[in-house]
Amino acid sequence: MGMRRKVKTGIDGLDDMLLGGLPEMNQVVVAGGPGTGKTLFGFEFLYKGAKLGEPGVLIPLEETPEMIIDNAKSAFTGFSDIDKLIKDNTLCIYDTLDIRSYLNSREDQKETFARLVSEIEEAVQENGAKRVVFDSLSLLKLLLKGEQDYRSMSMDLVGNLRRMKLTSVLTTEIDVAEKSRMYFLPEFFFYDGIITMYSSGDGGANRALTMEVIKMRGTSHSRATVPYEITTKGMDILSLAQRGKG
Ligand SMILES: Nc1ncnc2c1ncn2[C@@H]1O[C@H](COP(=O)(O)OP(=O)(O)O)[C@@H](O)[C@H]1O
Ligand SMILES: [Mg+2]
Repeated sequence: MGMRRKVKTGIDGLDDMLLGGLPEMNQVVVAGGPGTGKTLFGFEFLYKGAKLGEPGVLIPLEETPEMIIDNAKSAFTGFSDIDKLIKDNTLCIYDTLDIRSYLNSREDQKETFARLVSEIEEAVQENGAKRVVFDSLSLLKLLLKGEQDYRSMSMDLVGNLRRMKLTSVLTTEIDVAEKSRMYFLPEFFFYDGIITMYSSGDGGANRALTMEVIKMRGTSHSRATVPYEITTKGMDILSLAQRGKG
């Protein structure tokens, strides 16, 4: 068997690290500290997909669709046709307000979660999505009653995304101060890929953002920890060549 078909993330430098992109139908965790750009990463993955004619759905649990769109527009001023892609539903930002309030009420969480999965499926069928972003697993964990429920429901979510043949990015917050512990997060084993985003320095102007592909089933990949920037034209992973020039 040769290499699996690749889904281009469209993120500058990352597709090179992945020898073309994410292997199709991989369920990939993007883990990083607050403000490292996880949500923007997810947005760009869908935006670039939409530009290639591959529809996508974003499931935001932390923010309203309006907040997601406003933040993406303000960070990525070079993404000119966000409104158009949303209008023609190639890029769908799903509103999870009802689901979140039901989950938060803590009654029938399993039933509510099943409804979330079926709503995702409806949204996916409606625009023929090939890509999904779930933002975030951390918020799902916060809403659910216990660790056990979180683990079984997130596994169920991943199983359903696989069944729908989607290539997915699921974000999660990690404590960047504890890089070594992250490898042992028990739920990470059932994902096909893990990409981590670190922020070091004082968190202000001097902070340094770096990214690493820890695991990616279905392809070989760079194991380097590479610096990246959030630019108006999207995330920019600085390649070895570029760093050489700098
Ligand atoms: N114009 C901008 N508007 C908002 N965030 C920006 C902008 N330009 C750069 N950023 C960066 O994006 C980060 C937020 O990205 P986001 O994807 O929301 O982070 P996360 O989801 O990891 O918490 C900010 O911390 C900031 O560094
Ligand atoms: Mg976020």
